[in-house]
Amino acid sequence: MAEADLYFEYKGIYFTHFYHTPESLKYLEELSFRPDDIFIATYPKSGTTWSQEIVSQIMSGGDSSTAETLPYQDRTPWIEATQLADLHFEDRPSPRIFTTHLPYNMMPPSFYKVKPKAIYVMRNPKDVMISAFHYFGKRPIYADPGTLTEFLHKFLDGSKMPYGSWFDHVKSWLNAEDKEQFLYLNYEDMVQNLENSVARTAQFLDKSLDTEVIEKIAEKCLFKNMRNKVPDDSTNPIKSDDERLSELFRKGIVGDWKNHLSVEEAKYFDAVCKEKMRDVKCKWD
Ligand code: A3P
Repeated sequence: MAEADLYFEYKGIYFTHFYHTPESLKYLEELSFRPDDIFIATYPKSGTTWSQEIVSQIMSGGDSSTAETLPYQDRTPWIEATQLADLHFEDRPSPRIFTTHLPYNMMPPSFYKVKPKAIYVMRNPKDVMISAFHYFGKRPIYADPGTLTEFLHKFLDGSKMPYGSWFDHVKSWLNAEDKEQFLYLNYEDMVQNLENSVARTAQFLDKSLDTEVIEKIAEKCLFKNMRNKVPDDSTNPIKSDDERLSELFRKGIVGDWKNHLSVEEAKYFDAVCKEKMRDVKCKWD
């Protein structure tokens, strides 16, 4: 299906009809947050599910019985999703963990006022694009990605991508004021040394954990271990466990773009990236 049937525009950004309504996005504006709320913010396909698992494991002190019993949309709900109103989040005990794919400039007013902690996870845009290409191809709630070359141009243009342009998204969060409120993590660093990323995240969240607990969490959150666990997903009920797992946990590697893009395509991508990110330090080559 074409974008027009699957997406609607809200404040200049495309959102899927499947996960959002204009009313749910409007409702979001009225939310009030608490200073001890925790946010996980990502552009889609940058390691969101991974970060949700890491943060919920950290906050439960590595106690899987509490962290793993609830589905992701319940333990770390998306603030912009339609189900939010049903989750009675005002009644939830602190600290609440929320997830968002919104660019920083679209966060609800209370977020800027209350300044809860937020973890922004970034990934090499070429890998984000490849991951999205495969994911969109499997989930008909997204517009057909077409050929990889077509999708590459669509990704670089950004105006017809759900949640907008990757470049605008990353810049919005990187340029946010009040840096103490944020922890910036790179997917690539997480792959290279997960224990270190877990330890940094725990420290940022003022959660004092023993080294063994950090190691245990990092082990549980390795790709191969998460890949073996069926994520509960009531938004995707018709798929088999295997299909869901292969959608969410595809390869989990750094640099898969090298298996897909020609030398010319990669060069073109890098040139556009350099231009669009000229005022930001862009460390993915
Ligand atoms: P690939 O499609 O490149 O494999 P999101 O959760 O934001 O949709 O991101 C999905 C991407 O994160 C997928 O990338 C997925 O495989 C990867 N991912 C999920 N869990 C991971 C983990 N534990 N370690 C490394 N990558 C992981």
